[in-house]
Amino acid sequence: MERGRMSIGILTSGGDCPGLNAAIRGVAKAASGEYGMRVIGIANGYRGLIEGEARVLEAADFSGILTRGGTILGSSREKPFHDEGDQTDAELGQSKPELIIENYRRLGLDCLVAIGGNGTQSTAHLLSLAGLNVVGLPKTIDNDIAGTDVTFGFHSAVDIATEAIDRLHSTAHSHNRVMVIELMGHKAGWLALFAGVAGGGDVILIPELPYRRESVAETLRARERAGKPFSIVVVAEGALSAEEAALDKKERRKRRAAMSWPSIGYRIGAEIAGDTGMETRVTVLGYLQRGGTPSPYDRLLATGFGAQAARMIAAGEFGKMVAMRNGEIVPVPLSEVADRTRKVPPGNPTLSTARLVGVGFGD
Ligand code: F6P
Repeated sequence: MERGRMSIGILTSGGDCPGLNAAIRGVAKAASGEYGMRVIGIANGYRGLIEGEARVLEAADFSGILTRGGTILGSSREKPFHDEGDQTDAELGQSKPELIIENYRRLGLDCLVAIGGNGTQSTAHLLSLAGLNVVGLPKTIDNDIAGTDVTFGFHSAVDIATEAIDRLHSTAHSHNRVMVIELMGHKAGWLALFAGVAGGGDVILIPELPYRRESVAETLRARERAGKPFSIVVVAEGALSAEEAALDKKERRKRRAAMSWPSIGYRIGAEIAGDTGMETRVTVLGYLQRGGTPSPYDRLLATGFGAQAARMIAAGEFGKMVAMRNGEIVPVPLSEVADRTRKVPPGNPTLSTARLVGVGFGD
């Protein structure tokens, strides 16, 4: 390997989303074009580092991928510091972190760029503490990574979900029905909140605001009394009732696993039908929220995050995640990000706006 030329490894980890390839392209074009670095693509998230599956990326590899969904590198939900998954440390004969450090050295990496969500950044932080040079990029449709005002993938998912909600209005109105749409977002309700407000949802249920059935029913009845016997109810997959919120996590998981509904949206649809007598239908938007081309906003954001990562590497600024803070793309210490989730705070402006225009949150 030519001496003096830095080599950086890039991996994408966790759930995929629109914008991953734009981020890879942003890092790779800036690192190779501006700073003359060698770029190595690591396959399938941290699993590629454990298994040593990596290859040098040539300019042709990251050309023409700005608008492509998914990730050219592949992804996994490998959590190297949790001894679980396909192979245990014992079966491997070495701990996964040790294998990662060994392969990082063998590949001759000067830095690892970890593009991913909460779990990815927490692993990046531990690898940084273990002595590797790491830079994180915040990715997830859930928008729930601490330390940054926004993650790429989020706005593309808001666009997809909003377009779906728009379509549900016409069928709800035509049949005087309550249409429930379940969106992704396990721990935080950002996606349901933003798409719900953008799509004119009448009720929005998010994990941060445990709901009461009677409150949901009353919002829908009030609409009916006002001559609108149709409504849109937007539910985050992590939404929970006030009763569930009072349980400890273990008990709550047990109850959820035992429920006869395939997912929360169906349960809430049945609750609404039972409590109000209104005809109700359910749509689970699922993985459509993670597929396809990134929105122009996410292309801009992912490219900006990627270019900033290259700047940080050139400046020797490691152990940090690229973040958007008050409109500026800046580095934040991974120690402030790891093991945290950014939830919708009670005073969030979009939440306040929604309440002012009459959206019910079931609380
Ligand atoms: O990446 C975040 C997310 O899309 C969550 O919103 C969702 O609950 C989860 O991933 C789905 O995980 P998987 O892709 O492993 O099914």
